[in-house]
Amino acid sequence: MTRINVLVIGSGGREHALCWKLRQSPELGELYCAPGNGGIAEAATCVELKVEDAAAVIEFCRRHDIGLVVVGPEAPLVAGLVDRLEAAGIAAFGPSAAAAQLEGSKGFTKDLCAENGIPTAAYGRFTEAAAAKAYVGQMGVPIVIKADGLAAGKGVIIAESLAQADEAIDDMFGGGFGAAGAAVVIEEFLVGEEASFFALSDGETILPMATAQDHKRVGDGDTGPNTGGMGAYSPAPVMTPALEARVVREIIEPTVRAMAARGMPYRGVLYAGLMITADGPKLIEYNVRFGDPETQVLMMRLESDLLEALLAVAQKILSNVRLTWYPDVALTVVMAAKGYPGAYDKGSEIKGLSEAAAVPGVQIFHAGTTRQDGRILATGGRVLNVTARGRTVAEAQARTYAAVDKIHWPEGFCRRDIGWRAIAREKEATTT
Ligand code: AMP
Ligand code: GLY
Repeated sequence: MTRINVLVIGSGGREHALCWKLRQSPELGELYCAPGNGGIAEAATCVELKVEDAAAVIEFCRRHDIGLVVVGPEAPLVAGLVDRLEAAGIAAFGPSAAAAQLEGSKGFTKDLCAENGIPTAAYGRFTEAAAAKAYVGQMGVPIVIKADGLAAGKGVIIAESLAQADEAIDDMFGGGFGAAGAAVVIEEFLVGEEASFFALSDGETILPMATAQDHKRVGDGDTGPNTGGMGAYSPAPVMTPALEARVVREIIEPTVRAMAARGMPYRGVLYAGLMITADGPKLIEYNVRFGDPETQVLMMRLESDLLEALLAVAQKILSNVRLTWYPDVALTVVMAAKGYPGAYDKGSEIKGLSEAAAVPGVQIFHAGTTRQDGRILATGGRVLNVTARGRTVAEAQARTYAAVDKIHWPEGFCRRDIGWRAIAREKEATTT
């Protein structure tokens, strides 16, 4: 058997989880990660590579006989890294720049939904403020105002009053969101429970993966500002098998078909952010990459060989792959630097990681750390993803917080209620 050398692009908890899982593949040769972090260094060889420099990435791949590049974050996908790699004859996991518009342009996705009858919030697309404000006047509040382009998860404002809506519109057109705000999407406020659904596609075949729920607000009880995600679990109990089948039939399949028909087949992982409304599932947004921290819980539950699945996507032979999952629940808690999502300090030392990792069922993924003289230092906002499997959400949560409590890092914090919604459901199920 020829083993395959793999290069993972990225430096977060998502990439640590991907590297950790790839490492378990019998087909894996050498594993590299660019740039990686202090935890990834235990699973892969971290390399300094400017990932914006496609020529440098190609050169690295040739020198190290890379058989698959796995692109973690959206920016290099939207910038066309996969197109460049494929043109150079290097297999890559992730969509082309054209297909990455599903995340790179909210207007693109909304128009695609409208043309294909995919359920989503009613919307308007605007390039100047007066028309946008007139639409808000017509729709009423609450209403959702979004910068069209990539805004690192910060381009969405939920306006509760007309004054707030006008202010958000002026801010976006005034350059408050950079180039991402040159066009604005205004959409109906959806009411329901949010869930995420992940599926692989090679442009034609769709392979559902799993569901998850994130916790976007920084504070306990879902309070405070939005973040990149403070914790997650999988599966999402709200997503019954019947709902999942509907999501595939009504949302994922028409999307993959429409992208192929447009000559931009979608290859990679499709991450659908959903609102489960009284009328059924509606698409809030697509991401063209794995979720962070959702990937950490997905990888803990995946039994099958990840490398084989990702290669099959790149080689367009996904119909050959079946995925099996552990029946367990997985839950992850994000430990962040105090101050996040605002300003925070870097460089504080984290201790107790090996004691924490020894808690049964626990795996610790690093999101923003560096290794210096054998010490682990915090270098980011979201710093660690303490993750555990359990038979129930309550068990996974108890194991996760038992591990969190063994970590000594006075400069950090985490939410103490990750999984609350699912645990309430479990309690309800056992008492009725
Ligand atoms: P997005 O960046 O599109 O995921 O939006 C960030 C968050 O804003 C979502 O996770 C939702 O919580 C919320 N959101 C976005 N669009 C809507 C909508 N149309 N209705 C209600 N909430 C929304
Ligand atoms: N956890 C949210 C995201 O990956 O976009």
